[in-house]
Amino acid sequence: MCYVIPAKVLNLKERHATVEYFGEKRDIRRDLLSLDVGDYVYVQAGMAISKIPAAQAQLILRIWEDLFEKLKNRDRRIVDISYAEIKLSKKFNALLEKVDKKQELSNSDCLYLLDGRGEDEAKALYRLANRIRSEELKNSCCIHGIVEFSNYCLRNCLYCGIRRDNKDLKRYRLSLRQICKTIDYAVNKLGFKVVVLQSGEDPFYTKSKILEIIKCIRKNFSVLIFLSLGERESEDYEAFYDAGARGTLLRFETSNSRIYEKLRPGRRLKDRLNLIMDLKNMGYLVATGFLIGLPEEEDKDILNNILLTKRIAPEMYSFGPLIPHPDTPLGTAEKTVQDKALRVISLVRLVDRKANILVTTALETLGENAKEASLNAGANSLMINLTPLNVRKFYDIYPQRAGNDLKIEEQIAKSLRLLYRLGRAPTDLGISNEGFHK
Ligand code: 5AD
Ligand code: SF4
Repeated sequence: MCYVIPAKVLNLKERHATVEYFGEKRDIRRDLLSLDVGDYVYVQAGMAISKIPAAQAQLILRIWEDLFEKLKNRDRRIVDISYAEIKLSKKFNALLEKVDKKQELSNSDCLYLLDGRGEDEAKALYRLANRIRSEELKNSCCIHGIVEFSNYCLRNCLYCGIRRDNKDLKRYRLSLRQICKTIDYAVNKLGFKVVVLQSGEDPFYTKSKILEIIKCIRKNFSVLIFLSLGERESEDYEAFYDAGARGTLLRFETSNSRIYEKLRPGRRLKDRLNLIMDLKNMGYLVATGFLIGLPEEEDKDILNNILLTKRIAPEMYSFGPLIPHPDTPLGTAEKTVQDKALRVISLVRLVDRKANILVTTALETLGENAKEASLNAGANSLMINLTPLNVRKFYDIYPQRAGNDLKIEEQIAKSLRLLYRLGRAPTDLGISNEGFHK
């Protein structure tokens, strides 16, 4: 759980510490900061990120206590809606019972849930997943930020709009100064505690250039850095870790090696997975996942994707529907329907109850209410796009990305309104009472 409520340090162990929030104790990593007993700290993804002066922390805690209780009650009211009015098959009821008893679902149970069987059962599935989310993780919702600093890519993935062969796309690269300015605003003005630095696989940013970026951010800002740079040498990632990066976002895209190798020419699934495991072993917090709805993919592949992600045991699941881009070889592929994507979210929640599940931008792009529907189907985390507006449209992985033309403040205001309506506590941004109405 990652409430960014100030936590009080109770005791120190070698690289860990015990902290407390409103009586809840937690073990955290403290390798980014030196701490003393009695300090107040912000913790993200189980890691102490920055200290807060005691007086300020106590003030924030007072606001939180009140707001938090109200939001929690609202969430409880929403998840307590029963599905007694929904007509369900015997088989479905049996599955609900199994989940309630925390029994493991078999592969055929999971495939049954993935395979659309009418709106009623889908509705019941989403509600069940939402209830499990609330039971396991309460109502916290992390909001992370992402900066897309280069849309150059030397790869040619058949699904991706910024692939190498897409010659008509205007390419851009942000300078170190532009990146740091963007992070400065996000962290110091808007309160972000985690930022993802994302790019295509762009060799322009050599190991030393990336190191320079990480060091500049670490020196100037209290923020947890996730890297999403694609495949690089393990030695590079080791150096990035030593410089202070602590997370990576790298999807394996699909667990079906035949589909993988067809859609990512010249690349091998095995290498990708080895790299993801290397990153985990280096100590990185790993976010990973897959695309939903690739051509030739069957439900059993989707299930394998979910189970593979679970085996990797990531800090966060990041998956989303394929959205066909007209300027790619998959331009005429079928669009993933929202119901399928929501079923995947719910199934992840059922098979990995404590998972952090991100509502990715591609999920949001599926429809006007897709973000809300995703949060109500088991997801518990959001991403805000911090990329400067003048270049954001060129990070054209797929068309009509949700929020593509919204200022950061507008994205935040919209997300907060939604979270408050759903009784969720936004736990990455600094908190405010604004937007909370009874
Ligand atoms: N639709 C949805 N997601 C896509 N990605 C790439 N192309 C598309 C698309 N057309 C995702 C991939 C990649 C991430 C950066 O963007 O999963 O890992
Ligand atoms: Fe490059 Fe990633 Fe797009 Fe593939 S999916 S072309 S590696 S940005």
